[in-house]
Amino acid sequence: MTCPCRIAPSLLSADFSRLGEEVRNVVASGADWIHFDVMDNHYVPNLTIGPLVCEAIRPCTEAPIDVHLMVRPVDRIIPDFAKAGADVITFHPEASEHVDRSLGLIREQGCKAGLVFNPATPLTWMDHVMDKLDVVLLMSVNPGFGGQKFIPGTLAKLREARQKIDAFERESGRRILLEIDGGVKVDNIGEIAAAGADTFVAGSAVFGAGRDDDPHRYDTVIAALRAGAGGG
Ligand code: DX5
Ligand code: ZN
Repeated sequence: MTCPCRIAPSLLSADFSRLGEEVRNVVASGADWIHFDVMDNHYVPNLTIGPLVCEAIRPCTEAPIDVHLMVRPVDRIIPDFAKAGADVITFHPEASEHVDRSLGLIREQGCKAGLVFNPATPLTWMDHVMDKLDVVLLMSVNPGFGGQKFIPGTLAKLREARQKIDAFERESGRRILLEIDGGVKVDNIGEIAAAGADTFVAGSAVFGAGRDDDPHRYDTVIAALRAGAGGG
């Protein structure tokens, strides 16, 4: 059976001194997407990577690069990431001056567009822009750092998001992906999938696995995540 889910390792927990190699290794180990966390030290209290790094890793893989913007302002940087080879661009609605405009801008640049919901952000933000969404991303930790613990209340929120997305699909025939980000591990991915997620970001769970000197160190954990999500 082919897995209907996507496993998206977050580069935030990768070894930045050999990023290209890490990207090749996780994809060779079965990763579906590369999750790319962009933090600006304003919207979140951390500073990570930008379009230059996206451009640098683009030749390392054909897997979609899933850019998660934790930045303010949002619109200024969208075309830069599209040019750098991003496939999916998501942003936090509170960080945008005009949510509909930001979503439209992402799509105009040829990328898939998505909204990200912090644990405290209500899902109603999506209600009037469903037609512009390709991805809904629920944060199961507060954004800013890898290695945090999954917030259990996210499961109920996932079920609610699943209902909204399914209702939209019934009436429009269009599918929106439901992605989860934060604290996803082999031992909780089953209940997260059962609550409705179909796309799973995992940072520390993937990049913390295995021994540094093992070129296949990510195979086992990615296979276990996929099996736990019901795909295999
Ligand atoms: C947090 C980031 C996440 C993070 C996930 O702000 O958006 O993508 O890297 O890391 P883990 O899987 O370790 O919680
Ligand atoms: Zn992320």
